[in-house]
Amino acid sequence: MNILGIETSCDETGIAIYDTEKQSIISEQLFSQASKHAEYGGVVPELASREHLIKIIPLIRMALEEAKLEFIDLDGIAYTAGPGLRGPLLIGASMAKSLAYSLKIPSVGIHHMEAHLLINLLEKPAPKFPFLTLLISGGHCLLINTKEIGSYEIIGQTIDDAVGEAFDKVSKLLELGYPGGPLIEKLAKSGDSSAFKFPRPMINKDNLDFSFSGLKTAVFYTLKDITALDNRIKANIAASFQDAVADTLLIKSKKALEKTKQNELVIGGGVASNKYIRNKLIKGLKDSKIYFPPLERCTDNGAMIAFAGSFYLSNNKKNKNDQVRPKWPLSEL
Ligand code: KG4
Ligand code: ZN
Repeated sequence: MNILGIETSCDETGIAIYDTEKQSIISEQLFSQASKHAEYGGVVPELASREHLIKIIPLIRMALEEAKLEFIDLDGIAYTAGPGLRGPLLIGASMAKSLAYSLKIPSVGIHHMEAHLLINLLEKPAPKFPFLTLLISGGHCLLINTKEIGSYEIIGQTIDDAVGEAFDKVSKLLELGYPGGPLIEKLAKSGDSSAFKFPRPMINKDNLDFSFSGLKTAVFYTLKDITALDNRIKANIAASFQDAVADTLLIKSKKALEKTKQNELVIGGGVASNKYIRNKLIKGLKDSKIYFPPLERCTDNGAMIAFAGSFYLSNNKKNKNDQVRPKWPLSEL
């Protein structure tokens, strides 16, 4: 089966084709709107919808061309049904459903976070069920006891900001730009991570939940007290903030591994592309096997949607929710 994947939940138009016989992604196209939103300091939903609409058909054509396929060679279409921005989701869903209708092939709505999780199964060696999953993106921070495909027990989550959101907000405070994650990571390289002692939120709590808004507030008050902010201080703040996030993720993951008695940890989502965080988790969890997707498949992409779609379409399975659902808890899959 050739499965077309369409991702439009936020500001990336991601298109890919997964070949179930070859068990590989045979073409992949991505257009990031980040620079269009940068001047507003964050994603403008209306602008995002318009950009998806402009790019979606040319990118599908390019993906087909790259795979040396025609429209009629497609056997199924997977699209992101949620969670995400309503307008952008509707663009992807309308495209997928109308294309599937005209080609007389099935379509399936995919949960964006399930796709971030499952993309790890495409790697070799692949993690083996059951395992623990840590999803760290712009909208989520989830610890999931992952028993099998479709069985996701959420054992920890953020009670306020998501991790990527904290990176984006701190980047705004430091006047670095959007998206904040990669900019903070770059600046932190020249900074001293011990220069500022930021809190490691919730680490002494008995549960596995996270909270990142206090960390962002700590950066805010630190900046307020600095009269002459220069690049060296900014780099030190970036490095200290990043270290606090990495420590928090490490401590909570360790606790979750102990609690679930798992020894494999699967990580996904945009923040998983942060090399400092990756290294800290690898070093701190030496007794466990850690899996990350390749860097470019941590942030939003079409490959993860096409691949997740293959599990549904090859088994003729539908999601309970086939409509666009901007707020869609993974536990309701
Ligand atoms: O998974 P993703 O592409 O979209 C969502 O599902 O939200 O994640 C985007 C988030 C943004 O908040 C972005 O700042 C963050 O991931 N991010 C990073 C890095 N690259 C992207 N955060 C830290 N370090 C990075 N290198
Ligand atoms: Zn995402």
